[in-house]
Amino acid sequence: MQITELLENIRTLARECGTMILDRSSLMEVDEKGTDSNLVTNMDVRVQGHIAKRALSLLPGSRIVGEEGAHDEKDRERTDGDPGSAYTWVIDPIDGTSNYVRDIGCSVVSIGLFKDGAPYAGVVYNPYKDEMFSGAVGHGAFLNGKKIGVSSRDFAHGHLCSAMSLYKKEYAPPCFRIIEKVYAESDDLRRTGSAAYELCMLAAGRVELYFEIRLSPWDAAAAYPIITEAGGFIECLHQDGFPVDRPFPLIAANTRESFAHLKEIVLSEIPVMPYDERI
Ligand code: IPD
Ligand code: CA
Ligand code: CA
Repeated sequence: MQITELLENIRTLARECGTMILDRSSLMEVDEKGTDSNLVTNMDVRVQGHIAKRALSLLPGSRIVGEEGAHDEKDRERTDGDPGSAYTWVIDPIDGTSNYVRDIGCSVVSIGLFKDGAPYAGVVYNPYKDEMFSGAVGHGAFLNGKKIGVSSRDFAHGHLCSAMSLYKKEYAPPCFRIIEKVYAESDDLRRTGSAAYELCMLAAGRVELYFEIRLSPWDAAAAYPIITEAGGFIECLHQDGFPVDRPFPLIAANTRESFAHLKEIVLSEIPVMPYDERI
């Protein structure tokens, strides 16, 4: 299947998931995953199941890495896929689960596709604003069908999106120090509660700087090619490429200069990988 056709199918799928998410008519079940703030709802699980099923029919034999894992033995077999396949889906059924639980109206569906171990295509859909971000390597980045690009604002006029490692608060102190340093030199700070959405806002020229100390692959997989195709810069810090089996610090910026400066500030606080975890 050609990438343009594949992207169209992924956008259709993301839109279907958005419709599911907007429907709050059935009872919401909320569980905690390890910490009080790391939530999962029955909708996260339902949406991931829907994506997994469709993704495997789009690319038979592909692998799936999803935030909500495999749910039973049958799913586990399905999501392991064919180890020889070139394609891996990296999906977050609801990025911004806490917003979703609280009905804040800022959560997205994030569907990333890796080819030969590297980010290849991504779709991020915000159903509350009907904003469909998509992109694929060599094919540009789009918002609702219109080409997007990063802004040309310099660091001093930049807005930073960031967070304080809410699921592992032991890493919060360096985050606060980094935010303080960046804030002193830039324009302002935003925190929406959805990393994938913030990264897409950077791709669309709404914000300029992004840093998080501990993101999981599914938080950033779909947005990665959208940012690079929009002319931005993004890096999983202290990693070779983009790993799908561990969390990592992530930085992104609109220009090469701002990216270099942001990286310098981040490295001054986290010069080495601060943790060694697998997912
Ligand atoms: C979280 C959100 C949040 C970010 C966290 C993510 P979730 O994802 O993207 O903005 O700060 O690092 O884990 O749990 O809502 O899917
Ligand atoms: Ca997430
Ligand atoms: Ca999620």
